[in-house]
Amino acid sequence: MSEKYIFPENFWWGSATSGPQSEGRFNKKHKSVFDHWFDIEPEVFWGKVGPNIASNFYNSYKEDLAMLKDIGLNSFRTSIQWTRLIKDFETAELDEDGVRFYNDLIDECIKNGMTPVIVLHHFDLPIELYDKYGGWESKHVVDLFVKFAERAFQLFSDRVKHWITFNEPIVVIEGQYLYQFHYPKLVDGKKAVQVMFNLNLASSKAIKVFREMGCDKEGAKIGIVLNLTPSYPRSENDEDVKAAKFADDFFNNSFLDPAIKGSFPKNLIKVFQEDGVMFEFTKEEMEIIENNTIDILGVNYYQPRRIKVKESKYDESKGWMPDKYFDNYEMPGRRMNPYRGWEIYPESIYDIAINIKDNYNNIPWYISENGMGVEGEEKYINADGIVEDNYRIEFFQEHLKYLYKGIEEGSNCFGYHTWTPIDCWSWMNAYKNRYGYIALDLETQKKTIKKSGQWIKEVSKNNGF
Ligand code: BG6
Repeated sequence: MSEKYIFPENFWWGSATSGPQSEGRFNKKHKSVFDHWFDIEPEVFWGKVGPNIASNFYNSYKEDLAMLKDIGLNSFRTSIQWTRLIKDFETAELDEDGVRFYNDLIDECIKNGMTPVIVLHHFDLPIELYDKYGGWESKHVVDLFVKFAERAFQLFSDRVKHWITFNEPIVVIEGQYLYQFHYPKLVDGKKAVQVMFNLNLASSKAIKVFREMGCDKEGAKIGIVLNLTPSYPRSENDEDVKAAKFADDFFNNSFLDPAIKGSFPKNLIKVFQEDGVMFEFTKEEMEIIENNTIDILGVNYYQPRRIKVKESKYDESKGWMPDKYFDNYEMPGRRMNPYRGWEIYPESIYDIAINIKDNYNNIPWYISENGMGVEGEEKYINADGIVEDNYRIEFFQEHLKYLYKGIEEGSNCFGYHTWTPIDCWSWMNAYKNRYGYIALDLETQKKTIKKSGQWIKEVSKNNGF
């Protein structure tokens, strides 16, 4: 690899957050599943800190966006909260304060020279739609989401040219239906599989409306953000390889294939059918997925997945689970981020880049999240009051080097966004692990640029390092 890493022209140097993790609940008339969960069970959140105030972005977006400009960012992703923009979910009647807030936020972003990237769903289903209809289990909720999306396109697509339907839809399935880290913590593989279909359908239906409204003709692009976790088998042994292939199909290709190729992985469908958990769908719905694929892909990359053939006894009491077909493999000697418990393996970014190039039409894509959550960053504060997060700078550099290698070999990557610009609320982990370029003092809401913030400014200025 070369020693200087200069990225393609107009490369995005940016960072991402989400509405529920940054805004706070100020003036919001409805609750998302996370708002509700915090209200009824605050003790499950680290330090009993919930989304009520978060990083106060609802009130401080002007100052915050000016700071992002200061550290050289040229693009910024956040999400519109369904529970803030919409007053009546059935009719998609608008909440006037929600409209004002997102209008101002988008204008302010552009004023500061940053391209806004807007997501429509970041784990924040309205609780009413879960209670009334079972949330994403329901096709009616799919249609209500499309109405919300249509409203957002009508209001903002004159200025927002990069739209994302869903952030990490597989995490809704894992958290809510399989592994119990999203409310209401079900363990229900059959429902999980139906939700997998419904979320794909919701994304495609929103894309269809976007194009019917002519947003694409005005130069706007739409896509999805997927957290890709390449599955590496323990060995080259056939059984390990087969297990890893299944994990890849379930956790990655179940969204990647429909989003880009318009169809589901054949082997996955075969397993669902044979195991009696196949989702319900109509021919018309399948055609919508086939005909409304994405323009751009966002890839959130944090960690790989290490897989071996199923060796542990499968727990039948849980009913159908994807874990029937693999075991997670704890590779000896793997490098860990101990605070988050995630493996650090920058090489995967290259593998992802080449996979997109070779197997997914070399679609335009960008890294939409990459980052390192660290606990107790106060101990790295220097005499000038700045967090010296050298570990984070190294983490970014390592990942960028592998991204560069993928681009050099022809992968069509147009940007690198980190998670996150300003320390924000991390779901159940609340403010335990900090990810930002900018530190947040939770008591005072004071925001201070970290060393990594100074670093990205230089990188952005030089278009590389
Ligand atoms: C991604 C999400 O999964 O990773 C973010 O899109 C999330 O919402 C980020 O905050 C980091 O994960 P965590 O669980 O440490 O906050």
